[in-house]
Amino acid sequence: MTRFLIGALALGVFAALAGLAETGQISPLEAIGWKLFFDPLLSKPRNTSCASCHVPEEGFESGVALGEGAYGDRLPRSTPTVVNLAEAQFFFWDGRAASLEEQVKGPIENPIEMDLSLEEAAERVRDTPAYAAAFAKAGVLEITIEEIAGAIAAFERGLRTGPALYDQWLEGDRSVFDEVQERGRMIFFTRGQCATCHFGPNFSDGMFHNIGTGSNEDPGRSAISGDDYDLGAFKTPALRNWKGREPFMHDGRFETIDDVLDFYNEPKAEALGQTELDPLGLSDQEQADVKAFLETLNGTWPDLAPYEAAWDALR
Ligand code: HEC
Ligand code: HEC
Repeated sequence: MTRFLIGALALGVFAALAGLAETGQISPLEAIGWKLFFDPLLSKPRNTSCASCHVPEEGFESGVALGEGAYGDRLPRSTPTVVNLAEAQFFFWDGRAASLEEQVKGPIENPIEMDLSLEEAAERVRDTPAYAAAFAKAGVLEITIEEIAGAIAAFERGLRTGPALYDQWLEGDRSVFDEVQERGRMIFFTRGQCATCHFGPNFSDGMFHNIGTGSNEDPGRSAISGDDYDLGAFKTPALRNWKGREPFMHDGRFETIDDVLDFYNEPKAEALGQTELDPLGLSDQEQADVKAFLETLNGTWPDLAPYEAAWDALR
C-alpha cells in the first residue's frame, strides 16, 4: 500500500514537472488568472472581460482614446497597458490602488465597467466546475474574491515584454545603434529631459507628474492624495513597447508618437496646477532622432499560447 502511494506520488510529481516544462514555467495560479482575464463571466451582463478593454492585439490597451464598459458607456480615462507592471507600486493613472490584487476589484465592481458585486463574482467562479477543479489543483480550497484577484494579479505579473534593440545596447554592444539612434539617446537623457521622469528598466519612475494634461474634470493624483501639489499630476507611463499602444496619455489625446514629441517640444502653458515641463526647442531633425531612439525600446509582446496549454493541463 505504502509502496503504491509513493509510486503514485512520484508519478504525480513527475507529471507536474513535465507539465511545467511543457508550459514554460507557468504556475497553476497564473493559468487560472489567464482564463479569468479573458472571461466575461466577471461582468454582470456576461459580455465584458478584462481583455475587452486590455486587448492583447492593442498592446493590452483599447486602441481608442476611451474604452467602453459593459453597457457601452465610455470610460473617463484611457486604458493603460497591463504588461511590465510587476515592479509598479501604484496602479491607475492617479495611483489609487497600491497592488495589482487591489486593482482587480476596481473594474469588476465599477458600475460602468463590469458592474458585478465582488460576492457574486466569487460565487460565479465557485459555481463553475472548471474553475473549482483548477483552483483545487492550485491548492486553493475555498474560492473567494481574494483568490480570484490573486490569480489575475499573478497572471499580470508574468506579462513582460521581450528584449528590444536597446537591451543589446545596454549589454554593451554599442554597434547596434546607428548615428540617428545614438543622437536620439543623447537628447532623451540630456536636453530632452525625458529621463527626469522616464527612467529605470521600463522607463517610468512610477511617480506622478504634472506635464500640463490635467483639467478641472480630471485633476489626477490630487483627487486621491488631497494635496494641491499633485494637481494635474498623472502616473508616468512606461515607454517600453509604446508601439501598438496608441493613442497616448491618460485621456488618449495624442494619436501618434510624433504628436507626443510635438507636445513636449512646446508644452501648453495653461495647465491645471504647475507644469513641470520646459519648452525644448528641438529641431525637426532632433525630434526625429528622439523618435528613432524610442523605436529601440520596442521589443516582443508576451506569448499567450503557453497559458492556454497550462490551463488545459489543469482541467
Ligand atoms: C471597460 C474597460 C476596462 C475593463 C473591463 C477593465 N479595465 Fe483595467 N483599466 C481600464 C482603464 C480606463 C484604466 C485606467 C483607469 C484609471 O486610471 O482611472 C484601467 C487600469 C487598469 C490597471 C492599472 C494599470 C496601471 O498602469 O496603473 C490594471 C492593472 C488593469 N486595469 C487591469 C484590469 C483587470 C485585471 C481587469 C478585469 C478584472 C480590467 N482591468 C478590466 C479599463 C478597463
Ligand atoms: C516631468 C516628467 C516627465 C518628463 C520630463 C517627460 N515625461 Fe513623458 N510622461 C509623463 C507623464 C506624467 C505622462 C502621462 C501624462 C498623462 O497621461 O496625461 C507622460 C506620457 C508620455 C508618453 C505617453 C505614454 C502612454 O502610454 O500614454 C510618452 C510617449 C512620453 N511621455 C514620452 C516622453 C518623452 C519622449 C519625453 C522627453 C521629450 C518625456 N516623455 C518627458 C512625465 C514626463
